[in-house]
Amino acid sequence: MSVQNEMKKRRTFAIISHPDAGKTTLTEKFLLFGNLIRESGTVKGKKSGKFATSDWMDIEKQRGISVTSSVMNFPYKDYQVNILDTPGHEDFSEDTYRTLTAVDSVVMIIDGTKGIEAQTLKLFKVCKMRGIPIFTFINKLDREGRDPFDLLDEIEGELGIETYAMNWPVGMGKRFKGILDRQNEQFVQFTGNETETSIPYDEINDHPELADDETFASAFEELELLDGAGVEFSMDAVQQGEQTPVFFGSALAPFGVRTFFEEFISMAPQPAPRKASGDMISPDKEEFSGFIFKIQANMNPAHRDRVAFVRVCSGKFERGMNVTLDRTGKSIKLAQTQQFVASSRETIQEAYAGDIIGIYDPNVYRIGDTLVEGKETFHFEELPQFPPEVFKKVVVENVMKSKQFKKGLEQLVQEGAIQLFRSLRSDEYIIGAVGQLQYEVFEYRMKNEYNVGVRFEDIGERIPRWLKSEQVDRSKFDDRSLLVKDREENYLALFKNDFSLRWFQDKNPDIDLIDLFEVNQYSQ
Ligand code: G4P
Repeated sequence: MSVQNEMKKRRTFAIISHPDAGKTTLTEKFLLFGNLIRESGTVKGKKSGKFATSDWMDIEKQRGISVTSSVMNFPYKDYQVNILDTPGHEDFSEDTYRTLTAVDSVVMIIDGTKGIEAQTLKLFKVCKMRGIPIFTFINKLDREGRDPFDLLDEIEGELGIETYAMNWPVGMGKRFKGILDRQNEQFVQFTGNETETSIPYDEINDHPELADDETFASAFEELELLDGAGVEFSMDAVQQGEQTPVFFGSALAPFGVRTFFEEFISMAPQPAPRKASGDMISPDKEEFSGFIFKIQANMNPAHRDRVAFVRVCSGKFERGMNVTLDRTGKSIKLAQTQQFVASSRETIQEAYAGDIIGIYDPNVYRIGDTLVEGKETFHFEELPQFPPEVFKKVVVENVMKSKQFKKGLEQLVQEGAIQLFRSLRSDEYIIGAVGQLQYEVFEYRMKNEYNVGVRFEDIGERIPRWLKSEQVDRSKFDDRSLLVKDREENYLALFKNDFSLRWFQDKNPDIDLIDLFEVNQYSQ
C-alpha cells in the first residue's frame, strides 16, 4: 500500500487528564475495542493484583501509577490507532510535555463531579501553545456531578476554548438515563449493562416511560437552550484547536465510550506536515524521516538497554534501513527496532508517518535528534524545554561511588526526566524537575540501576528565570536569587518566591528575566 494511504489511516493521540479522572479506565476500553486486551486489568491493580496494561514499570507497579509514558498501537476498522500514554500522577515530568510534541491530537478527560483540575490546565496549556486539536470526554455521568452547563462554561472560561456538545446527558447519578445524540438526533439509552439502545427523537413518544419522564423533559429543554446559544460545530475550528467537541459518558459503565471513540477517530486529524529547517515536511513524502522525543534507559532490566522513541514524520520506515542522523551527519543502520504495547515489545518491520517506533540506542542519540533517509538532511524544529518547578541539591552518599553517580546522573538527564544545573558558587549539582515524584523515581533508579545511594538537600520550590550572559553580574545574586548554569551553560536565577523575583526586578530593571514557558509560547 502506498505511503499516502498508510499515512491517512494513522490516528496518533495522547489522553490527558488529572489523576483519577478515569484515564486508565478509558484507555483500557479503547484497548478492548482494539482487541489488545481481553479484559480490563482491575484499575491500578488495587483489588486483584492485576495491573492496567499501560502501567508497566517496576516502580509503577509498586506505587500504582504511570511514571513514564508508554505507547500502544492497534488497528481499528480502517484506522491504525497509536495511543501515547502520559503519566496521570500530579507529579509528572518534562517527559509528559514532550510526549505532546509527538501526537496529532489529544483526548482530554474531565471528571464530571470535579471539572477542570490543575493537571488538566497545565497539559492543556501545552496543547494550546502547539495548536493541537482537543476532544473532550466528560466522565463519571453515573455519579451525581456538576451541572453540564457549568462544566462547559468552565472549560471555555478556564481554558479559553469554545465547546461544542456532541451529545447531552439525560440526568446523572441515580437518575442517569442516557444521552441525546445531537448529530444523529437520537436518544441513546443507558441500560446499566454494556448494550446501548438508540431511539430516534421522533419515536420517543412511542415510549411513554421516557416521554412522560421529568428528567427527560428537562434534558430536552436544556438541549433547546444549547441550540439557542447558536454555537455551530466547526471542523476547521476543531482542527485549529479553537473548538473542542465535548462528549458525555462513563468510562467505567462503560457508556458512550464506543461512540465517542468512533466519532473521535473519524474526526481526529491524520499526521500533518511538520516544520523542519524552515521547510514543511509532508507526511506523504517518500523518504523516511522522524525525530526522537524520548529516550529511556533500562526498560528491560535483564538487558540494561536504552531505547529511543521516534515519531515517524514522513515516508516509510523499513527495518534494516540506513538513515542519517542530522546532528552528526553519520549514517546509521536501524536494525533493532520495536513497537510497543506497554512492556511487550515486538520487532517492527515497517512503519509510516504517525507511528511511534523504538530504536535501540547504543548511546548515540539525543532528545530532539532528527533521522532522515538519504544524505540530504534537515532538522525538525527543536522540542521546547520546559521550566522545572522543584529544585534540590543532590549528593552521592558514598564518595567512592562518584563515578557511577555521574554516569547515572548523565544518563537520566539525557532521558529528560530531570534537568541538571551547577551552582556557580559551590559547584554543586542541583536537579530540577517538573514535579516532586521525579525525585523519588530518580533516587529509586539510581539505587536500582546504578547501585548508588543519593541524598537530597531541599532548596524549596523555586521560580527559574533565564538570563542573558552579558547581563550577568554575580554580585547581584544571593540565596534568594540563586545563580546557576544549565547543561548548555546558560545562566539562570532560581528565585525563592514571587516576592524575591519582583524585588530583584525592581532593583535591576535592566536585567531581562526570561520565562521559558512564555518563550515557548511565543516561539510557536
Ligand atoms: P486515572 O487513570 O485518570 O488516574 O483514573 P482511573 O481510570 O484509575 O480512575 C480513577 C477512579 O475512578 C477509579 O476508581 C475508577 O474505577 C473510577 N472511575 C473511572 N471512570 C469512572 C466512571 O465513569 N464512573 C465512576 N463512578 N467511576 C469511574 P478506583 O481507583 O478503583 O478507586 P476506588 O473508587 O476503588 O477507590
